[in-house]
Amino acid sequence: MKIPISKPNLDEEEKNAVQAVLDSGFLAQGKRVAKFEEDFGRYIGAKQAIATSNGTTALFIALKAIGISQNDKVVTTPFTFVASASSIMQCGAIPIFCDIDPQTFNIDPDALERILKKDGSSIKAILIVHLYGLPCPMDEIMSLANQYSIPVIEDCAQAHGAEYRGKKVGSFGKASAFSFYPTKNMTTGEGGMILTNDEELGKKCRMLINHGSKKRYYHEFLGYNFRMTDIAAAIGSVQLKKLDDSNQRRRANANFYNHELSSIPKIETPVVPDYALPVFHQYTIKLKQHRDDLASFFDQKEIGYGIYYPVPLHQQKFIHQIVGNGNYPMADACSREVLSIPVHPLLKKEELEHVVDLIKYFCQEGFN
Ligand SMILES: Cc1ncc(COP(=O)(O)O)c(C=O)c1O
Repeated sequence: MKIPISKPNLDEEEKNAVQAVLDSGFLAQGKRVAKFEEDFGRYIGAKQAIATSNGTTALFIALKAIGISQNDKVVTTPFTFVASASSIMQCGAIPIFCDIDPQTFNIDPDALERILKKDGSSIKAILIVHLYGLPCPMDEIMSLANQYSIPVIEDCAQAHGAEYRGKKVGSFGKASAFSFYPTKNMTTGEGGMILTNDEELGKKCRMLINHGSKKRYYHEFLGYNFRMTDIAAAIGSVQLKKLDDSNQRRRANANFYNHELSSIPKIETPVVPDYALPVFHQYTIKLKQHRDDLASFFDQKEIGYGIYYPVPLHQQKFIHQIVGNGNYPMADACSREVLSIPVHPLLKKEELEHVVDLIKYFCQEGFN
């Protein structure tokens, strides 16, 4: 039984929506992008929504729009996808890494406090990541950020619909960025979105993604073409309608795994703090030993898995050259121990059972 780690949840409705755009002859940014922006902004609870070409451009433009530039320092996590830090570096700024809480995989507020105490006046922004669909501890983070008057940017690429104490992530910071890559909880093919409640900031983002212009052929500053197409937005609007149901299925799959796997002593199942309603972009277990052996066993059995992320960002060559050696023991340990198993909404009961049976078999046999 071959089981992929992820699978976009697409059907006739997306096909028909794309067909309608093709039939209309208006393929680039138009009324469907405007509709998708409005619907997505309302869903998350933000006043301004600016659709972009992908999640990386959404992060980059959000940082640019709040004024991040050459040699500025921006705090972020070393345990994330490269774009969380490369978007900072694309602004000419320097990522300042903050170690994670190994239970939640998210930025550790105590470590953040230590950085701000030491260097708070020179930090220009804090870019947090709700990794694997689990919200960061927002009360602690926002109170530290407010204390030092530092804007927070939320990287919500993996957390569409996740809630912190009943409020959706993406609505806490100065701005937030989402990705709609096909492995994400909802997709537009390639695509992204910036959200903010700040009207001026929203206008700036919209101009930045559109060659620095409000009016065609009148350019007020250097900008980019990072627009979303109506084809992508048409898919996004259908996907948004399915999102709550998809996330519910992911949580049900995660519950099944928790029930089956949490009593195995060699495996740590994901921790969900009581402030969080997660959306399980990934279901990530930790193995102190034999993680790579389990991965090889899955390869043999054609079970999709992911190691997110095998190299923490401070150890990526081009980043290491800029930030030098640092001490992030929790991120280092997690990169050696994590393994994500299929949790996507299209999994069938027998597929979930098969994954569980294989893990149980491996834990009995593979450790000898
Ligand atoms: C945490 C995180 N940030 C940023 C991105 C960048 O998004 P994209 O691939 O749409 O550029 C991704 C996804 O790939 C991600 O997982």
